[in-house]
Amino acid sequence: MRKPEDTIPADYDQPIREGKLVPAELAGLQGISLLTTDEREAVLAAIPQTGLFVEIGTHHGVSMAYWAKHRPAVTFIGLDVYKEPRRQGSYDLGWKAARNWLLNRRPNMLIFVGPSSETAGYLALHNADVVLVDADHHYEGCSSDLKSAGRLVDFTNGTILCHDFNGPKYHGVTRAVLEFCERESWRIAGVVDWLAILKRK
Ligand SMILES: C[S@@+](CC[C@H](N)C(=O)[O-])C[C@H]1O[C@@H](n2cnc3c(N)ncnc32)[C@H](O)[C@@H]1O
Repeated sequence: MRKPEDTIPADYDQPIREGKLVPAELAGLQGISLLTTDEREAVLAAIPQTGLFVEIGTHHGVSMAYWAKHRPAVTFIGLDVYKEPRRQGSYDLGWKAARNWLLNRRPNMLIFVGPSSETAGYLALHNADVVLVDADHHYEGCSSDLKSAGRLVDFTNGTILCHDFNGPKYHGVTRAVLEFCERESWRIAGVVDWLAILKRK
């Protein structure tokens, strides 16, 4: 199966048009969702009806706006640095993603801008029900985000989700998830496409 990011067109920052990139339920949103439909649905299924959801690496906010629409009583907090690592020194893709996040924002969505190593600390007083890790895809960055997620998800039945696990491109993510589960009280409860679903051991 092809990943959405392999099919990003040059005009990716334009409003999503039905049937072009993504399913109809995302039509009208600005930009892209980098999750497959099955991954997006698996994330939605993990989110309870009330509580707090944190997405480390929220990008255009398309995925988050979809979940926020279906879970109006949940608070959604996105963290993003909005600096595209593949284009060092350029904020081009960063500002487009940030602008799209604002255009896609729903009343139950909030955002903290900055490196997750700093912004995850802003949430230290809260317990999240679900944290999705999808930011820095290098081993060190992903390990650090998983550690933050473990601190944030304090509920016994809480969930950590990690995107780009076991894919062909991001070996650092796969290694980080496996080591995190070996070291900490978490286990892989399921995998949907490239989404690892972690629950307490
Ligand atoms: C793959 S995209 C996230 C896709 C999004 N979860 C979705 O469902 O479409 C990764 C995002 O992580 C952000 N990012 C990368 N490193 C980061 C860091 N250290 N702290 C915060 N955000 C980071 C990037 O700016 C980018 O927007």
